[in-house]
Amino acid sequence: MTIRPILLHPDPRLKKTAARVDAITPEIETLAADMLETMYDAPGIGLAAPQIGISRRVIVMDCAGKEEEAQPVAMVNPEIVARSEETNTHEEGCLSIPEHYGDVTRPAEVTVRWTGLDGTVREAHFDGLWATCVQHEIDHLDGKLFIDHLGPLRRQMITRKMTKLKRERARA
Ligand code: NI
Repeated sequence: MTIRPILLHPDPRLKKTAARVDAITPEIETLAADMLETMYDAPGIGLAAPQIGISRRVIVMDCAGKEEEAQPVAMVNPEIVARSEETNTHEEGCLSIPEHYGDVTRPAEVTVRWTGLDGTVREAHFDGLWATCVQHEIDHLDGKLFIDHLGPLRRQMITRKMTKLKRERARA
C-alpha cells in the first residue's frame, strides 16, 4: 500500500465529476487500499479518489470513535437513494482544505447504495457522523467541496487563504 499525495484546494481536479467504475479490477482494489492508507495517515475519517487526483467514483471512510475498533469502508459508485427530511448541522473539515472548518447543514440520515470491493451491491442506512461523512465524500465525486455549502464570502476567504498557503508551500 502506498500513501498518495492529497491535492489541495484550489485545484481544477477537485472540481471535476468523477467517472463511474465499470468493474472491480486489481487496479481499483489497489486504489481503495492506498486511499485507506492515505486517509489513516493524514489522519482523516474520509477520502475520495479525486482528492488524490484519480477521477473515479471511489470513496473510503472510517468514522469509528477513538475507543472503537477500526471500521474501514470502501465504496465504489456510491449513490444516495434516500434522504431524511430532518437535517443536521455539523462542523466539517476536509483533507484538501486543511485547518479550515465550517458548519454545513445536510440531511441527518441517508440510505446509500454502492458496490463493494467484492463486487456485490450493498445498501446501508447512515446517521450521525457517518451520514455527514458519506455525503461529504460523495460530493467530492461530483466536484463539490464543503465550502460550496457555505456563503460566498466565507468560501472566497478560505480560497484566498488556501491559494496563499499553496504558494508558500511551493516556495519552500
Ligand atoms: Ni473532503
